[in-house]
Amino acid sequence: MTLHEITLGVFYVGNKHPERVLFDELIPLPDGTTYNSYLIRGSDKTVLIDTVDPEKKDELLSKLESLGVENIDYVVANHAEQDHSGTLPEILEKYPTAKILATEKCAEFLCELLPVKPDQFRAVADGEEISLGGKTLKFIHAPWVHWPETMLTYLMEDKTLFPCDLFGSHLSQDELFVKDFSKVEKSAKRYYAEIMMPFRAMIKGHLEKIKSIEFDLIAPSHGPIYKNPQDIIGAYQKWVSDEVENKVVIAYVSMHGSTQKIVEHLSKELADRGIEVKSFRITQDDIGELAMELVDAATIVLATPTVLVGPHPQMVYATYVANLLRPKARFATIIASYGWAGQAVEKLSAMLTNLNAEVLPSTVVRGSPNEDDCSALCALSDKILEKHKSIGLIK
Ligand code: FEO
Repeated sequence: MTLHEITLGVFYVGNKHPERVLFDELIPLPDGTTYNSYLIRGSDKTVLIDTVDPEKKDELLSKLESLGVENIDYVVANHAEQDHSGTLPEILEKYPTAKILATEKCAEFLCELLPVKPDQFRAVADGEEISLGGKTLKFIHAPWVHWPETMLTYLMEDKTLFPCDLFGSHLSQDELFVKDFSKVEKSAKRYYAEIMMPFRAMIKGHLEKIKSIEFDLIAPSHGPIYKNPQDIIGAYQKWVSDEVENKVVIAYVSMHGSTQKIVEHLSKELADRGIEVKSFRITQDDIGELAMELVDAATIVLATPTVLVGPHPQMVYATYVANLLRPKARFATIIASYGWAGQAVEKLSAMLTNLNAEVLPSTVVRGSPNEDDCSALCALSDKILEKHKSIGLIK
């Protein structure tokens, strides 16, 4: 078993989970994931930062055994979600004198989620410091990363931040550290889109809060560790900003080819006007890729066929997910294809409650798109071009 000492006295004791294909029974994991846990040895105290998913509990316990850990003084629970907290009961069983350090809210959640008791906790305040002997932990409360109870832990002497899910990526790879950020950026962006984007305003505040702290390492709870923290911080600053790109994301379903023709025609018209287009056929494509493009697209187009007078159920799903993720798109529009009757546009429009976007007039096409329909799609492309120009995306 390889045990990695990431800085003097700080050991990586997490696990890879490359075979996991879904997270929360929702998020596709094309590159698997990791559950990162870290052991810190001060001259007086030994601390475990987060645990691992219960599926990997034996690996964590045997790593601690290999390191000869006989006593743990504290287990830091930065976040209550079970992929990090789920092995707490086994850790406390093996190290019964360990106290869990967490925010008050996290302690409350953990007592509801796991067989742990309030007297096993010590709540830590925002900015509180705890000395381990030669090493000091500082706790930074950071709610809504992506649950309300979260905090970040900073190891002061080592200038190492343990931010739990923040700055994470679902990426199971052999290297513990990021070697080439361009190879990790896509996974980190996908992770941001799926997990952090709905809390963009809060994340922006947390970036501001940690701005003055000096980091040599950022060691998140999923994916590789950053030796150049500015890579991921810079990417997050861009993603959480209000800036959008000259890009249209089209999410669609096509049953008999009409919506496909509509999307192809619209895509060509938009491309001819110098606008980047990313289209996703919801029934075939990875919804995580769609989420990732929603991070910075200026415009969202939802194109649906009609099923039993409403939108296609897979488009209801995609619209529901897109709305949950609260993308910062500035414009949105709906296209519906129908055979004899329908309220697909009205039903999808009513779902866009979280979008702070200007909704452009919808387009309705009966059957296969004819010449008039193609003219309507040209007019829609002109409208999108005009809107992108109006916010300075095209000169
Ligand atoms: Fe990786 Fe929110 O747990």
